[in-house]
This record gives sequence, C-alpha cells and structure tokens, in this order.
Amino acid sequence: MSRVQIAASILNADLGALREAVQEAERAGVDRIHLDIMDGHFVPNLTFGLATVEALRGVTKLPFDAHLMISNPSTWAPRYAAAGCQTVAIHVEAPERHAATLESIRSAGALAGLAADPGTPVDALSAFLAQLDFALVMTVKSGFGGQSYQPEAAARIPALRLLLGAARPIHVDGGIKAGTAADAVKQGADVLVAGTALFSAPEMGAAVASLRPKA
Ligand code: DX5
Ligand code: ZN
Repeated sequence: MSRVQIAASILNADLGALREAVQEAERAGVDRIHLDIMDGHFVPNLTFGLATVEALRGVTKLPFDAHLMISNPSTWAPRYAAAGCQTVAIHVEAPERHAATLESIRSAGALAGLAADPGTPVDALSAFLAQLDFALVMTVKSGFGGQSYQPEAAARIPALRLLLGAARPIHVDGGIKAGTAADAVKQGADVLVAGTALFSAPEMGAAVASLRPKA
C-alpha cells in the first residue's frame, strides 16, 4: 500500500444517523469505513451487527473494514465478507480456531486479518501468517472509542512488519488524532483508523487532512 489511508470508525458517530455519518465521512475524504462490531461478551460493549452493515453497504462505494470484537468469529466472519466488507479482522485473543476462520473469510471474498490488543505480543499472529492478508494493531484496549493512544502498543509495529513483510497492510486503531497519527505512521501504519477525532471535529475534512502525513 503506497500512501497512508484514513479509515473512519463510525463507532463514535451519531448511531441514530449512520447513513449521514458515512456520507459525511466520504465527503470529508476518508478512504475507508471501519465498522466496530462488538458482542457485549468479548468486550464489555454492544454496538451494531450484520444487519446494520448490510443496510450501510449501499450508502457508499468506499471499502468497508469489519473489526469483529466478538467471541465466536467463526460463526460470523464470513457473513461480513458476504455482506460486502472488503476486509474482515478477527481478534487473535478470541477463543477459536483462527486458521479455519481466516480461510472462510477469504473463501467468502474478503481479505482476512487478525487484530491484537495492546497486551498481546505480535508473535501471537505468527502461527497464522499463511492465512493473513493484513493485521489490525490496537493502540487502545478494544471496546470503546475516545480512549488515549498507547505509544507502547504502536511500538509493536516494527516487529509485526518483520513478520508480515512489506506487502501486507497494517491498520492501526485507537486514539488516532492529529497529535498521534505521525507516531503510528513512523512505526509503520498503512491505514489509520480514527473515530472520535473525525466525528467530534467541527470540520471533518480538516480533521482528515490533519491525520495525513505531511508531504
Ligand atoms: C475500539 C475501536 C476503535 C475505536 C476508534 O474498540 O476498535 O475503532 O472506535 O475510536 P477512537 O478514534 O475514538 O479511538
Ligand atoms: Zn476498530
């Protein structure tokens, strides 16, 4: 992936007006829409699910990235691919057989990824390299938007890059804003996921631009 891409996490948008939130993010110039799916078990929060993603698919042509913070990804992951998500990330910490689930995401037509919370060493992904198209590095503990970026969690990225090689994108998610985006990019981020920084901004276009690396 040549230039750094910006993905808008709609978790902190107005959940009563998601269509408008996606349209606003597209107008603001984001490259992707990041969908935080939470089941209230794997993380202590419940957001939205497959029906919402299916309803939003027709709103934009931007790529959808499903971030599954759920305890049973094998059941659901391929269905998010079938719903039109270009990528689907499951958590390596989830109690399941990840190789088969990652293959099922690919068979359903999407890119397969593993997400790792800050406390998880990136070496946990090494057993699944044959099934991985990308990785999602969490720089906050998954479950809520509006948290503070953890630089030590981003410091894992160079080691992950050695594992993944240069061709597989690394998405970085959590606390990304004007003051932290540069560190994530310096560590090797290909995709910056931002929620609060975009949806709380007075002018989203400027907020998106503030995340992009300076030329
Ligand atoms: C947290 C989500 C993140 C988060 C990003 O579990 O995965 O996408 O919503 O939101 P901010 O940008 O507010 O940290
Ligand atoms: Zn996320």
